[in-house]
Amino acid sequence: MLELIEKHPSPRLTSCPCPQLTGAGGGLGRLFALGLARRGCRLACVDVATKPNEATAAAVVRETGAEARAYTADLSKSDDIAALVKTVIADFGHVDILVSNAGQLQGGLMWEVPDDALDLILDVNLRATILLVRALLPHMRERASGHIVAISSVAGEADAPFVSMYAATKAGLTRFMGCLYHDLYRAGLHKDILVTTVKPYFMATYQQLVDCFTYNKIGKILVPFMDPEVAAETILEAIARGDQVVTVPTHFSLVLHIVRLLPLSLVALVVDKVLGAEVRPLISYAKRRHQELDADLLHELLSKEYTLAADQDPEPVCRALLEERAAGRPTHHDFAPLADGVLDYYRKQAKPVPEAVRTVFSLS
Ligand SMILES: NC(=O)c1ccc[n+]([C@@H]2O[C@H](COP(=O)([O-])OP(=O)(O)OC[C@H]3O[C@@H](n4cnc5c(N)ncnc54)[C@H](O)[C@@H]3O)[C@@H](O)[C@H]2O)c1
Repeated sequence: MLELIEKHPSPRLTSCPCPQLTGAGGGLGRLFALGLARRGCRLACVDVATKPNEATAAAVVRETGAEARAYTADLSKSDDIAALVKTVIADFGHVDILVSNAGQLQGGLMWEVPDDALDLILDVNLRATILLVRALLPHMRERASGHIVAISSVAGEADAPFVSMYAATKAGLTRFMGCLYHDLYRAGLHKDILVTTVKPYFMATYQQLVDCFTYNKIGKILVPFMDPEVAAETILEAIARGDQVVTVPTHFSLVLHIVRLLPLSLVALVVDKVLGAEVRPLISYAKRRHQELDADLLHELLSKEYTLAADQDPEPVCRALLEERAAGRPTHHDFAPLADGVLDYYRKQAKPVPEAVRTVFSLS
């Protein structure tokens, strides 16, 4: 019985270990990279967004003196995952810890989420971790040493509006990690290869995410966004202890147990009327979250997805574009052909067209 509840501190955080950290390009991933490096780790930083990921690796080297290398990989692609694991093992000799943190935080009413967004959410949030674990396990088994950490979410524990796909992947991820522990236990490997599932509540990792969620006054008091730096430190401490499941903040674990006992209709009423929770669609922008903002991306956001399909205010992108231009970056695109769609957006919103938008779209 003692053995069942015994914790195994992660030896991999104490002897110059090498974690492979996904989603290192920003948000929680960058905080993890710095925190792991301060704890003595050498780091393989992975992200689909090259420049922000390189910026993370550079910040690690600059601020902590630890070794850090940046690897570009699209984790929605099996080939990228296989090649990544091979390269990192060749470069570092071994991988002690996998921190599977990359995620697609996309939302919207389930019938509004486009097919390609659905694929991306499923592939990055769930399939990528499974493939990474499968690729790394032979290596960890051979060394009889490893620690697999997956960043899941409280969204996988409670039913809520606007997050069906995201919540489904996080629920699946949590279940996968629990079952992985059982498989390791059966193989007698559970003391050698540790498993940690992390379930954070909402963290203010970027403004667009915060802006999407609105609550009334009661909601703001009861479920405020967490400070990501505090959350990252709490999570790293739990990983170092070898905790199997970490809910952040801790008291949410009890809240979620209680919520699961209640009928759906009551929970829906509380979310809607008591907390006044609203979630605006967070679709297209999130796809390219930490990609460097250049004229091509702006064009894509403005033309194909951002303005015309996703029903989001184009003003922030226009302001960014003007800043780009002011900084001397060339912009190759003529945005005038998109003006009708943009005007239509402001007409529907019954809002005046902001100055930045007028300038970009050459509107008088
Ligand atoms: N922010 C929150 O409120 C919150 C709450 C609970 C759980 N989480 C989870 O924490 C993790 C980090 O979230 P965050 O808030 O820092 O978000 P974020 O968007 O800042 O970071 C996610 C990272 O994953 C990368 N990524 C996305 N798709 C990828 C792909 N195909 N291949 C490789 N990398 C890819 C992004 O480029 C980005 O750097 C995610 O798994 C998220 O689901 C976040």
